[in-house]
Amino acid sequence: MKIEGKEYRTIWFDEKNQTVKIIDQTKLPHQFIIKDLKTVKDAINAIKIMEVRGAPLIGGTAAYGIVLAIMEKNDPNFIKKSSEDLIKSRPTAINLKWAVDRMMKKLTGINNNELLKVALDEAKTICDEDVKFSENIGLNGLKIIEEIYNKKKDTVNILTHCNAGWLATINWGTATSPIYHAHKKGIPVHVWVDETRPRNQGANLTSYELNEEDIPNTIIADNTGGILMQRGEVDMCIVGTDRTLSTGDVCNKIGTYLKALAAYDNKVPFYVALPSSTIDWDTKDFKDIPIEERSSEELSHIDGLDKKGNVEKVLIYPKKSSSINLAFDITPAKFVTSLITEKGICEASEEGLKGLFK
Ligand code: MRU
Repeated sequence: MKIEGKEYRTIWFDEKNQTVKIIDQTKLPHQFIIKDLKTVKDAINAIKIMEVRGAPLIGGTAAYGIVLAIMEKNDPNFIKKSSEDLIKSRPTAINLKWAVDRMMKKLTGINNNELLKVALDEAKTICDEDVKFSENIGLNGLKIIEEIYNKKKDTVNILTHCNAGWLATINWGTATSPIYHAHKKGIPVHVWVDETRPRNQGANLTSYELNEEDIPNTIIADNTGGILMQRGEVDMCIVGTDRTLSTGDVCNKIGTYLKALAAYDNKVPFYVALPSSTIDWDTKDFKDIPIEERSSEELSHIDGLDKKGNVEKVLIYPKKSSSINLAFDITPAKFVTSLITEKGICEASEEGLKGLFK
């Protein structure tokens, strides 16, 4: 997708410099900075401090992390240890483990002098496939938006939470992909963007990327969705997910559950868009999903532009207060209207998912 009219992906391999390039998302929306990852430690750190974030992009970065490890030291113990460290870098998004496991499986039995080439090809394939997955999610989700538009004959108002946009994937996004496809088809859409405290991925990233694609959007405080739904100003909700169980239970950015409850009460359809790499087929009980707890500083401090245009971090809480920062919550399947995947749309249930993915 575009930034200032120029097409980008969120991650790519720079053949000339033999580095991995990323867009540093901690600097958006105030600064657009492309950063080099040169070592596996750089990749782990980028995932931990959220220079890259969003389940599919975390997966893509982990895949390139294995490539960087091989470039540093083509030694089986180092590569294995690197793969374990990568998996530990963020616990909730399942795409991370999925990508590392896939890379390690691909490398099994490959001899040393071919290892780097095989790893690089596989990392590129994982990223290319993700682009295709996101594109197909968009084409499938487009049908839902089209249906609403054909009935309403007016702008379709869509609420989204966090950033499940192209910045969270390699391109297109999951939740935003149907929106981009609808816009390209000339269907008028307007997006209610949940600010998404504490890190404000909605305001900082979703609104930013929608602006760059000229899609009308309005940032709302996280608590505003309920009244907008009661007033009939939301036609549908669409969110992404960090891990969806085979039961159809959806783990996503903190606050998703409350939005789903409000949608359920107001009979607003609530969709979850996901590639198959986000399905956790093994965990059966959502209480077993590891929920990441991040630093309280993400709540107590906020970045903004000062009068001179410099980015500054300020404390917004009483110095003595304590806080807790759980990064994800679970939306039980019964509150999810449908799942939108690269293979089609299905019920949020084992039957639904198995119908699409054998
Ligand atoms: O903590 P983040 O910013 O990595 O969380 C991202 C989300 O919750 C997204 O909604 C999810 O990863 C889906 S991304 C296509």
